[in-house]
Amino acid sequence: MNDESNATDQEFWSRARRHLLRYGGDFVPFVPVRAEGAFLYDAAGHRVLDFTSGQMSAILGHCHPEIVATVREAVGRLDHLFSSMLSAPVVDLAEALAQLVPDLPRVVLLSTGGEANEAAIRLAKLVTGKWEIVGFAQSWHGMTGGAAAATYKAGRRGIGPLAPGSFAIPAPNAYRPRFPGVGWQQELDDGFDLLDRQCTGNLAAFIAEPILSSGGVLELPLGYLAALKAHCRARNMLLILDEAQTGIGRTGLMFAFERDSVVPDILTLSKTLGAGLPLSAVMTTDAIAREAETRGFLFYTTHVNDPLPAAVGLKVLEIVLRDRLAAKAEAAGARLAAGLRRLQQRHACIGDVRGRGLLLGMEFTAAGGQPAAAISDAVTDVALELGLSANIVRGGASGGTMRIAPPLTVTDAEIDLGVELLDSAIARVVPALQALRRPGVSRDTPEHGQARAARIGWGP
Ligand SMILES: Cc1ncc(COP(=O)(O)O)c(C=O)c1O
Repeated sequence: MNDESNATDQEFWSRARRHLLRYGGDFVPFVPVRAEGAFLYDAAGHRVLDFTSGQMSAILGHCHPEIVATVREAVGRLDHLFSSMLSAPVVDLAEALAQLVPDLPRVVLLSTGGEANEAAIRLAKLVTGKWEIVGFAQSWHGMTGGAAAATYKAGRRGIGPLAPGSFAIPAPNAYRPRFPGVGWQQELDDGFDLLDRQCTGNLAAFIAEPILSSGGVLELPLGYLAALKAHCRARNMLLILDEAQTGIGRTGLMFAFERDSVVPDILTLSKTLGAGLPLSAVMTTDAIAREAETRGFLFYTTHVNDPLPAAVGLKVLEIVLRDRLAAKAEAAGARLAAGLRRLQQRHACIGDVRGRGLLLGMEFTAAGGQPAAAISDAVTDVALELGLSANIVRGGASGGTMRIAPPLTVTDAEIDLGVELLDSAIARVVPALQALRRPGVSRDTPEHGQARAARIGWGP
């Protein structure tokens, strides 16, 4: 890095420190100025392979030319409307979604995942006349009131009471079963037994991710969704599926629930529906929509059914179907999973590789006397230095699970490059940590911090 870009960099970070409120830990020490396909580029031209599709959303890669053209055209023709006014892109997208899930033909379009779950929970409460909502103890459904109350992965501290009537049961975890020898069906039945004892007879809905991504890429085993729906039916509860990350092809099918042939009562889509632009949807049955309308369902927002994001969503669906990206995700996911399993054979710190299609998790485990969290943190840092962006989610006894979700447009060469970069990062980290653990050398010294920043080469 030359003196000029170093100075610009330092000024950027000091302005960021002065003016930005941190909302989720540290910022990543890489500042993209442009993105294309599966890569991000900084001002100095360093490129980073984006193995999280932005925030698990950019399924078409970054700045897909047809999405760019759609945004340019739509923003110049019909951008935003009074919320009771309809437009062709909105009806077209609702119809296209309904064609994909004929059992859920009624749609409302919103902006974010949290907002869609908020609307879904509100809908479920209104039509059932009940108010208790159940989720998984490792769930993430968003940051707004109702969605946050159903989110157990993080964020429950320091903000006073969340919605009364919020309950959780554990998600199944095949790699780290809570009670070895107890199968998921028994665990699920026990969870509902506890719920029955704690609730006040007002269970309105269960909200679930088919693969709990923020919870550590925990996949609901085949049969689980059917059993969950049966438990819901027995209690006149609705089943809400949140396919923010799994929807629109990522798992190898258009929707993850298709593997199980279990259609929820309410489906929420977000992240992947706009391929990175703010668009979400709530889909439900005719019967639920009719009941909601009779009871005066209200979810009136500034951007409800806006034409510009709807035009984007339509184009996303067109591309995903035309280019058969769900099938592509299955094939690319198999190649990626095979690569990660090869790494697992080479590196003792990889405990598990799991997931479906292009939503994979690689769980780090203690190895060579190193705590797993130290390994996973260092691997992420070094991988970024080498040119790969990935993200660790923590939870339970695990040292962290790396979520790997490249765009569905990823090439074989990009997958192989990503696996190679991870291999190099792990190979570099484990001996380096062992050296740091020698007496008198601490990872937490200022010297180490400076060394790490210098190694990474970005920002203070
Ligand atoms: C499964 C799931 N649902 C909902 C959300 C919330 O979406 P948003 O951040 O767009 O509100 C997330 C975000 O990570 C998510 O992973």
